[in-house]
Amino acid sequence: MDKIYAKIAGVGKYLPDKILDNAYFESIVDTSDEWITKRVGVKERRMADEDVFTSDLAALAAENALRDAGMSAGEIDLIIVASVSPEMYTPSCACMVQKKLGAEKAAAFDINAACSGFIFAAATGAQFIQTGMYKNVLVIGADTLTKVTEYKDRATCVLFGDGAGAVVLSAAGEKTGILGTVLGADGNSGDMLTICGIKVSELDRERRPYGNYRTIWMDGQGVFKFAVKTMESATREVAQKADCSLDDIALVIPHQANKRIIDGARKRLKIDESRVFSNVEKYGNMSAACVPIALCEAVEQGRAKPGDKIIIVGFGGGLTWGSALIRLGD
Ligand code: ACO
Repeated sequence: MDKIYAKIAGVGKYLPDKILDNAYFESIVDTSDEWITKRVGVKERRMADEDVFTSDLAALAAENALRDAGMSAGEIDLIIVASVSPEMYTPSCACMVQKKLGAEKAAAFDINAACSGFIFAAATGAQFIQTGMYKNVLVIGADTLTKVTEYKDRATCVLFGDGAGAVVLSAAGEKTGILGTVLGADGNSGDMLTICGIKVSELDRERRPYGNYRTIWMDGQGVFKFAVKTMESATREVAQKADCSLDDIALVIPHQANKRIIDGARKRLKIDESRVFSNVEKYGNMSAACVPIALCEAVEQGRAKPGDKIIIVGFGGGLTWGSALIRLGD
């Protein structure tokens, strides 16, 4: 049997209109535009309205990706949503998206790998295509982190925003699309970044002085060190796995948590700034939505072109990390 590849048939994104700029944070916590710009590299983030949820953003991004692919929702066999901020435990966000799109023949499920989530979801979707089980898979990264952010905590509130990005993966005969993936997890370090669900541990209670346990807590410096290290190793590893030199990579698209993390990993990789995509200044950290939105914008801006080999790479809660080497179709 001929090998089946999972090509990128379409990309899409959706961002809410409302902007939170650094002046807003200066008005609510003890911070400054200078500190946020220098330490994080963020100027603005987007915020969904109170009655707009992750599945709403996810469905809008998915519609844009389907339009880009020239496909209808009825052609989709599987929907995978990566998110850490779905509005419900059940039904899954993916099932809600299936309903909103009217993608009636699609199976649907969620994946939680925090900020690495889209890469885990894309790797999973590609497996379903490569085994011949499905032809068209919709992979979405969507988060409304502003709904799980403690706005009294200056160490975290300035970092996060809302958004969604989506990709349609389709079966192809030619060697294109997702050519290699690396996924990893370190559950032993899970306490470094938490959002409580049904259980609130003593540790989680103690470190949330404002009493809202469904907000993000993290050991910023610990995650920072982990991030720079794993972004470098996951990028090198996936290139090696796909038999590629880093010199052949047109663009690296990293998770957008902090400009200093992106720069740190880039320097370790000895890659020129022109070959690393960043939009963290405009949107901040949108967890699973960062990588697909950045991919979509890289395509829109002509920085990722047909035939190019690119690497997407991320890290996040869990702790988790992942990377994928993608050749964009001609
Ligand atoms: N404004 C002003 N000062 C601040 C702010 C702020 N917004 N936040 C923290 N500070 C202060 C601290 O209180 C501290 O003051 P002190 O020295 O008087 O105690 C000082 O700045 C330095 O604090 P650090 O925590 O050491 O600052 P750092 O340079 O490490 O930056 C940051 C903090 C931005 C959080 C960084 O560590 C980081 O980006 N970490 C990675 C976070 C991340 O990537 N998370 C991703 C996963 S999110 C998810 O999965 C949902």
